[in-house]
Parts: sequence; structure tokens; C-alpha cells
Amino acid sequence: MSKKVFIETYGCQMNVADSEVVMSILSNAGYESTDNINEAGLILINTCSIRDNAEQRIWGRLKAISHLKKRKHDLKIGIIGCMAERLKEKLIETEKLVDIVVGPDAYRELPLLVAEAEAGHKAVNVLLSREETYADISPVRMDKNGVSSFVSIMRGCNNMCSYCVVPYVRGAERSRNPESIMKEAQELYEMGYREVTLLGQNVDSYKWDNNNKIMGFPELLSNVAAINPLLRVRFSTSHPKDISDELLHTIALHDNICKHIHLPAQSGSSRILKLMNRDYSREWYMDRIKAIRSIIPECSLSTDMIAGFCTETKEDHEESLSLMEWVGYDFAYMFKYSERPGTRAARKYKDDVPELIKSERLSEMIALQNKLSIKSKKNDPGRIYEVLVEGYSKRSDEHLSGRTSQNKVVVFPAESRVKGEYVNVLIEKCTSATLIGKCI
Ligand code: 5AD
Ligand code: SF4
Repeated sequence: MSKKVFIETYGCQMNVADSEVVMSILSNAGYESTDNINEAGLILINTCSIRDNAEQRIWGRLKAISHLKKRKHDLKIGIIGCMAERLKEKLIETEKLVDIVVGPDAYRELPLLVAEAEAGHKAVNVLLSREETYADISPVRMDKNGVSSFVSIMRGCNNMCSYCVVPYVRGAERSRNPESIMKEAQELYEMGYREVTLLGQNVDSYKWDNNNKIMGFPELLSNVAAINPLLRVRFSTSHPKDISDELLHTIALHDNICKHIHLPAQSGSSRILKLMNRDYSREWYMDRIKAIRSIIPECSLSTDMIAGFCTETKEDHEESLSLMEWVGYDFAYMFKYSERPGTRAARKYKDDVPELIKSERLSEMIALQNKLSIKSKKNDPGRIYEVLVEGYSKRSDEHLSGRTSQNKVVVFPAESRVKGEYVNVLIEKCTSATLIGKCI
């Protein structure tokens, strides 16, 4: 009888893509995936370390599932991903529940490590690699909609933003062979998928050297877009220091490359950006936004913002707010700064903004973004958008939900439309998060 594995994924899209690689490796070793944690013989938690609260959630989750082990003595529990890499064997030593610890570059070893754990040994592999991209592995798709999927194009990060744990837990940057990326995207299209999101920590520095012929991200992106006009292409994440006009022209040129750029600013203060080691100033960032606006006028924009980084003053914070207002983001992810052990900020700067002030500043950012999100949709009623249908809306089976090229969510009466179809929707009204309309 094949063994059942339950994988739970925390953190970013990259982790979602990695869980699909893990499932592929395990299914080749005879495992079967299950959605029911109670029937699993192996539970893997794919973890995130980006902020302390991400790790706290995982400790909480481990407590919550501890009863399963009492009931089933041969159950094995593995911590994989970023938190496994950060804490290494300490995880097994401090938490008796954990049998297996595997970092993001060692997933090929999982079947072996599970066998080790079953034989009663400590099973830890947190070696980082300079080459591993899992290029030859066909991920087992675990998404529920069958319409949009992630394709990893590179791993690791060389940027060394001073607040960020990613370079430590995911290692150095390396790009994946473009042939394997094209093959994966093509297969997804043939399986009925209609949207792929190309993933990397900094997609703008994608680089593949084929006998001295260098392929950069713009070329890769247009190749993927050429697979089929019905396949939408998105990407994440761009870095403001590297996003080039060449890329912007590529996006403008192809109808099926989505007109949305996630361009994390992190802060609006050049002084703070310098301490963050972001390698650009407020002015540089604003210049890139101007370039986007002029080359791709219909492009939507989103950002990540950190409130309360080391030494941040009221004036710095106000510069973040004024930048947000100036750009008029359609969407933003906003966080309180969380010191991560071992990072440059943790070693060099004092985490000196009091918790209460961090919370106040974050609340101000969120309130502002709510206003901006509403503003970004205010002019949409009366417009017609092409929407890729992803499935039924959360609230009702009589309504479908999908997204515009700009990544705006649209809900409309289903009529006879189905997921995976492109539908023209006339927008009639909006809420702060959703556009509501009817098909035409
Ligand atoms: N504290 C708070 N937010 C962080 N991010 C990364 N590291 C930290 C940290 N130590 C945020 C950044 C990044 C997003 C993925 O998470 O905004 O873009
Ligand atoms: Fe993703 Fe970063 Fe979290 Fe790792 S630490 S899962 S790379 S967000």
C-alpha cells in the first residue's frame, strides 16, 4: 500500500511552487498525496521565516497537530523550507515532534531522509546549493482551479537587503534552464491552464548563458508569451534597481503579458532605503514608475512596504506615505519590521522603533492603501475588461470570479461561462477589493 503524505504550505508563491516539486519527488518514490491530515503517514510543513510571526504560526501549528502523533506512533513529521534552513537541527532538538528537517535545496533527498527517520535516525539535510533549480522535475500541480499556476524560473537571492533572511535561507541566486521553463509552461497550456506566473526573488536578474549567448528576463518572458496568445503570463518579483525599459517594452508589446507590476518600494525615504541596502533612492524609484506609466499606460502597480525599520523617524514614515500616495498603488502588502537574527540589520542597527509606533505607522499605511485601492477602482464602472475566469466566486455558485490583466478581481453572474474561458465583462460597480459586472 502506498504511503500517504500531507503537505501544508506557508509563506510565498515560491513555497507553493516548491511544495509541488516536493510532491513530484515523493510521488516518484511511491507516495500518494492526501488532503486529509488524519490519514497521512507523513506530514510535511513547508515553512516561512520572513518575519517572526510567520515562524510563530508554525510553532502553533506544530502544537495543534501534536495529538496526531500520540494516536499514530509511526507518523513522521517533517519541517521543510525556509525555517528548516534557518534553524537546522535545532528544530529537532527543541521540538521532539519533528523527525525530519530539509532545506529548500535538498528536496531530492526527501525519500532517503524519510527512510532514515523511519529507521529511527535523525534526518536532517540543510545543504544549500549553487546549482539546484529542480529544472528536470515536473511539479505535481496542487492548485485547485486548474487555470493558473506558478513556474519557478530561478532560486535564491543575491541582493542582501539588510532586513531580509531570504539570502540566508534560500542561498545564492541561480537561473533555471530556459528550455525546461518553456517545456513546463507549454505542458501547463496543454493541460488547460491559461495563466502562468514566472517566479523568482528578483526576476530582472534572470540570466542564462548558452555558449556565450546570454538570455535575460525580457527574452525569456517574450518566449513564454509566444507559446500561445491564450496563455496569460505574469511574473513576480521585480526589483526597482534592475527593472529595465527593455522589460517594460516587452510587456507593452504582448497582449498576453499581464499589465501589472509588483515593484516593492519598502520605504519612501532615501535614507532608510540606504540602510536597507536597496540600492536605489526615492527619486530612482519614482523615475521607474514614470517609465512604467509612459511605456505601459494601462499598467497597475503594487508594492511591499515595511513600517518601522531601524531608526525610522516620523519624517521617514511620512515619506513612505507620500510615495504611496504619489504612485497611487492598486494594491499593497504592508508589514511591521521584524528583526531577523543574522541579517545585516540585526547585526548593525538597533531595532529601535517601539512596537506601538510600528503598529501606529502600519495602521496609517493600511488606511491610506484602503483609500488608494478604492480610488484605483473608482473609474472602472462603465469600462469593459477581459477577464480570465478562475472559478465560482467565494460567496455564490451563481457567480464566477476571475481577474483582469491588471490583476483586479471581477465577479459576475455565471450564465453559461466556465473557468479557463476569457469573458468580456462590463463593470457596473466596485467594492474596495472587487469589481462587479456582467458579461457582454
Ligand atoms: N520584516 C518585515 N518585513 C519583511 N519583509 C522581508 N523581510 C522583512 C522583515 N524582516 C517583507 C518585504 C518583502 C516581503 C516579501 O516581506 O516587504 O518584500
Ligand atoms: Fe518565501 Fe521568504 Fe518566506 Fe522563504 S522566507 S517562504 S522565500 S517569503
